[in-house]
Amino acid sequence: MGTLHVMDHPLVQHKLSLMRNKDTGIKEFRELLDEISMLLTYEATRDLPLEDVEVETPICTCKTKMLSGRKLGIIPILRAGLGMVDGILRLVPAAKVGHIGLYRDPETLQPVEYYCKLPVDAPERHLIVLDPMLATGGSSSAAIDFLKRRGCSNIKLVCLLGAPEGIKYVMDHHPDVDIYIAAVDSHLNEHGYIVPGLGDAGDRLFGTK
Ligand code: PRP
Ligand code: URA
Repeated sequence: MGTLHVMDHPLVQHKLSLMRNKDTGIKEFRELLDEISMLLTYEATRDLPLEDVEVETPICTCKTKMLSGRKLGIIPILRAGLGMVDGILRLVPAAKVGHIGLYRDPETLQPVEYYCKLPVDAPERHLIVLDPMLATGGSSSAAIDFLKRRGCSNIKLVCLLGAPEGIKYVMDHHPDVDIYIAAVDSHLNEHGYIVPGLGDAGDRLFGTK
């Protein structure tokens, strides 16, 4: 079974509370998502492998460590996952970026796929799927299915907020995938929105409502 990592760091919780506030405007909402994404990725990359290297400092030669092995790929789920990309690229500037376009049908709540473009070497990379909202879990799970069908196997999921039912759904369908999240909320309402949540992440990020 995958592990659920809830990042209850005070800075993350403070920034998330600001994002939940309905009066927080688009500029601040974007900045906060960017900052929290960076902090979540810091945790999600904790187990990246290191190798010994030799470096010459101004004082002497020393043995020190650098990242080794597979490179990173980040896969935002459109649209709201886009708001998490820049923060992560500041931490890992050489990461490649793939995009998966999914929207949730408002009636059935089922994910509908409309776009996919992945780095050609995605199966050789550590992949981090990004979506701020894990509600029913349908979208994240479909994106992970999609990657697996294309030969990818080394996958983590980084989200901002989740509902217990969505987290269970992803963990049941993808027991090999660890989830990194800032908070687990109470439940979903009758429209499939996370309660208390922060509303529609895509609309708040792009000003579409
Ligand atoms: C939102 C959100 C997730 C999905 C979560 O996207 O960004 O992708 O819903 O819901 P789920 O866990 O029940 O699948 P939405 O479908 O609203 O599309 P958008 O990002 O384009 O607004
Ligand atoms: N998508 C969102 O943007 N917000 C929710 O609460 C659920 C799905």
